[in-house]
Amino acid sequence: MSVALRIRQEEPADREAIHALHCAAFGQSAEADLVDRLRENGDLVLSLVAVDEIVVGHVAFSPLANDAGLKASALAPLAVLPSHQRNGVGSALAKEGLRLLAEEGHGLVIVLGEPAYYERFGFKPETASRFLTPYDGPYLQGLMLSTIDPLRPATLHYARAFAGLA
Ligand SMILES: CC(C)(COP(=O)(O)OP(=O)(O)OC[C@H]1O[C@@H](n2cnc3c(N)ncnc32)[C@H](O)[C@@H]1OP(=O)(O)O)[C@@H](O)C(=O)NCCC(=O)NCCS
Repeated sequence: MSVALRIRQEEPADREAIHALHCAAFGQSAEADLVDRLRENGDLVLSLVAVDEIVVGHVAFSPLANDAGLKASALAPLAVLPSHQRNGVGSALAKEGLRLLAEEGHGLVIVLGEPAYYERFGFKPETASRFLTPYDGPYLQGLMLSTIDPLRPATLHYARAFAGLA
């Protein structure tokens, strides 16, 4: 990882770069558009950029409404510019996001993605399988950030921007 890499909250001037990097990383605009809709709707719980002279990575967290009294959020999307991948940027973004959410009293984070990648941060499919979401399956993983345990299976409602995803 570059020694100059910095992780910080997104600023208004980063928005175009964030959009462009999701398009470049995913090869389509769906994830970039999702970030824009989350922001427009006021549903970015946390939006971090990795900056190495330019914005090289971004991660968004959005609220998961539920009636179990859990402060829960979804990690999505996470992307790193193709030219900067496999240098620890994605890991640095995920770890800093999880650290900040734990500090703010979040109890649960859910992610939909490759278990081979997200297990390194402590995400487990078994944790997610205790909750009901529209994305249930082997790629849905969860990480408890606190010891608060919901007494019954909770339904997690994604922010409405996700409804527009293909
Ligand atoms: C996935 C992504 C965010 C990882 O960021 P990164 O900065 O390249 O990753 P890091 O350098 O922190 O970690 C590299 C490790 O992740 C692994 N990895 C990267 N992408 C992976 C994937 N899709 N599945 C499994 N492992 C993956 C690498 O093999 C490497 O493993 P190692 O540490 O055992 O060598 C980045 O590759 C990316 O933007 N990909 C395209 C968009 C995407 O798929 N986002 C995730 C949506 S769930």
